[in-house]
Amino acid sequence: MKGIVYTGDGVEISDELGIRDPGPKEVRINVMAAGVCHSDLSVINGTIPWKPPAVLGHEGAGIVEAVGAEVRSVKPGDHVVIATLANCGVCRACSTGHPTWCLRSLGNVSKPFTYKGEPASNFAAVSVFAEQTIVSEVQAIPIPKDVPFTSACLIGCGVLTGVGAVLNRAKVRPGETAAVFGVGGIGLNVIQGLEIAGATRIIGVDTQASKESLARQFGATDFIDASTTDAVKAIRELLPANSASAAGALSPMGGATWAFDCVGHPAVLRNALDVLDWGGGAVALGIPPQGTEVSVDINSLAYVDRTLMGCRYGSSRPHHDVGMMIDLYKAGRLKLDELVSLTCPLEDFRVIVDAMHEGTVARGVLEIGVL
Ligand SMILES: NC(=O)c1ccc[n+]([C@@H]2O[C@H](COP(=O)([O-])OP(=O)(O)OC[C@H]3O[C@@H](n4cnc5c(N)ncnc54)[C@H](O)[C@@H]3O)[C@@H](O)[C@H]2O)c1
Ligand SMILES: [Zn+2]
Ligand SMILES: [Zn+2]
Repeated sequence: MKGIVYTGDGVEISDELGIRDPGPKEVRINVMAAGVCHSDLSVINGTIPWKPPAVLGHEGAGIVEAVGAEVRSVKPGDHVVIATLANCGVCRACSTGHPTWCLRSLGNVSKPFTYKGEPASNFAAVSVFAEQTIVSEVQAIPIPKDVPFTSACLIGCGVLTGVGAVLNRAKVRPGETAAVFGVGGIGLNVIQGLEIAGATRIIGVDTQASKESLARQFGATDFIDASTTDAVKAIRELLPANSASAAGALSPMGGATWAFDCVGHPAVLRNALDVLDWGGGAVALGIPPQGTEVSVDINSLAYVDRTLMGCRYGSSRPHHDVGMMIDLYKAGRLKLDELVSLTCPLEDFRVIVDAMHEGTVARGVLEIGVL
C-alpha cells in the first residue's frame, strides 16, 4: 500500500508498505483524510526525534475496516476520528479524567507496518499518512457519517489541541483577554476556542502578515505582524493599565489574562509571559527541540500570581471531546470546513509542506481513501 515514510534523511512517498492484521484489542482503519500538523514536519527536520523508518501522520479520520476479536466499541464500516492517545483506561490518570497523563499514552511505539519488507514503526501511535493504519480500540472514536472526512480529520490533533487548551487547560472565562502567538493550525483553533469561551479581546500574532485574514475569520479581534512590530509593546498598548472593560471595571495593571505559545520557541514563550496581566497564565503548546529552556525572572511570577503551564493534546479526553467538537460544529459554533485551505493526494505532500512554510494555509489535508 501507499504511504509517507520518514526514512531518517527525509521522507519518501512509497508504495512499498505492508500492514499486519489487528491484534485482539486493535482496529484496522481505511484512512480517508489526514491533516498535516507541524509536528509531522518536526519529525522530518529533527526537532522531534523519532526512529526511522516510520509512517508519519497523526491527525486523521477514516472507516473501520477490521477489528480484533475483543473489540466491542466499533465495527467495520463505522466512521471514526483517530485520537493519538493509546491510554490504558485503568490507571489513576485515566480514572481521574486525564488520559494525557497516562504513562501508556507516551512514547507508544509499535511496528504494525513493513517498509520494503522490513518492520516500520508508527508515529504518535497513529500513522495516518497511509492507506491503512492500526490503532488501539480506545483511539478509534466513532463520529456521525454526515461529517466530511476532510473536516473531521482535523479534530484528531489541531482542534482537540487548540480548543482543548482553552477549554480544558486554561479554562478561559467570559470577558477574559488573550494573545495567541502563531496563527497556524493550532493557533487558529486556540482563537476559535477563545471565542467559544467568551473571551472579549483575542490578539493573534504571527510573523507572516498573510495570517491576518485567517486570524480574524476565526475570531481574532486584533492582529500583530511580529516581523515588523514589537509584539509585546503592541499588546501592552492594546491592553493598557487602567483601561476600563466594556462593563466599566478597571484593569489596574493591563496585559492579557492568557497568552498561548503556538510556535514552540523560547523567545515566543518569553513574550507570552511578558504580555500577561497580574494573575495571568501562559500556555506552552509549541514543541521546540528537546532541552530547550526559557528564562524568566521568578519574581515576575511569584509576586503577581502569574502561571506558566504546559499543555499536551489540549488536555483532552477524546471520548468526550471529539463528540463535543462535532456538536459545536453542527451548531455552527466551531469552524472545521473553513480550516481546510488545501486538499491534495498523498503524492502531493510537498505541496502542503510548501504552503505551510509560505503561510498560505490554515491546514492542508491529504485525501487518501475514496468512498
Ligand atoms: N502540545 C501539543 O500537544 C501539540 C499538538 C500539536 C502541535 N503542537 C506544536 O504546535 C506548534 C504549532 O503547530 P501548527 O501545526 O499550528 O504549525 P503551523 O506551521 O501550522 O503554524 C505555525 C505558525 O507559527 C508562525 N510563527 C513562526 N514563528 C513565529 C514567531 N516567532 N512568532 C509568531 N509566529 C510565528 C508561522 O508563521 C505559522 O503561521 C508546533 O510546534 C507543533 O509541534 C503541539
Ligand atoms: Zn499535531
Ligand atoms: Zn492510564
